[in-house]
Amino acid sequence: MTETSTLERALEALTGANRLVVVTGAGMSHDSGVPTFRDAMTGLWAQYDPHELASEDAYRRNPARVFGWYLWRWCLVRSVEPHPGYHALTRLEAGTDDFLVATQNVDGLHSRGGNQRIVELHGSLTAFRCFDNGHPYDSAKLESLTALSGEEVEPPRCQECGSPIRPGVVWFGESLPQMAVKQAWSAVAACDALMVIGTSALVYPAAELPSLAMRKGVPVVEINPDLTPISHEVTVSWSERAAVALPALVDRLIQ
Ligand code: OAD
Repeated sequence: MTETSTLERALEALTGANRLVVVTGAGMSHDSGVPTFRDAMTGLWAQYDPHELASEDAYRRNPARVFGWYLWRWCLVRSVEPHPGYHALTRLEAGTDDFLVATQNVDGLHSRGGNQRIVELHGSLTAFRCFDNGHPYDSAKLESLTALSGEEVEPPRCQECGSPIRPGVVWFGESLPQMAVKQAWSAVAACDALMVIGTSALVYPAAELPSLAMRKGVPVVEINPDLTPISHEVTVSWSERAAVALPALVDRLIQ
């Protein structure tokens, strides 16, 4: 099947949809220069051990290693720009009655790209808080800090309770933010089409969202250069990069 005919099939699936949910993962930001987690050579989890970086136990064992790693990633995402696929999603939001991006990404690029209706299922790199009591910590105070990949940085302390500061992302073993979950699941329950972009669809509960839409019987369009566990079940599986597919699709959908 040629890419042009896949575009036509995606258009057919999405034309007329007015309650749209867009589920995104790390692949959405890949074209902006942010590494994914599971790509074989370049993925973060190919180079770093998630058990040493993405859990409360890991932070307790070595707060400087964990804080330094997230600081490095925060510096990295602030140094890149949202690609044209992000701007296409913003045009799509403007042209759709009910629209929601439900992202697993913590990089803030959807917001910087112009989308307004976003839920961050795995939290945000910018939302720092203290480890013991969850007191918010103003990220502006950290903006001058930098870290190289693998560099350990001693976390600053909470002014209220003295506990060390951690990133506001969801770690393995932690629950997703309840409000984000509620919004995403209700939006999918009400949607008349769903797009799933740049996720390996392996991490639950976010991976349930496309399946939920498929069980409802609404069209699901996947954009991902590689096959995923849901590629054979979705209405249209488009083997293309987000920065290429989204502008082409939205230019035709929103005229
Ligand atoms: P993964 O790294 O598991 O998957 C990224 C997906 O993006 C893969 O299926 C790639 O084929 C695809 N991809 C790569 N380049 C792309 C491009 N240019 N355009 C579109 N797709 C592309 O990332 P996630 O599915 O987001 O959780 O991972 C889910 C969660 O696992 C993350 O939120 C993170 C991780 O552990 C936590 O840290 C809690």
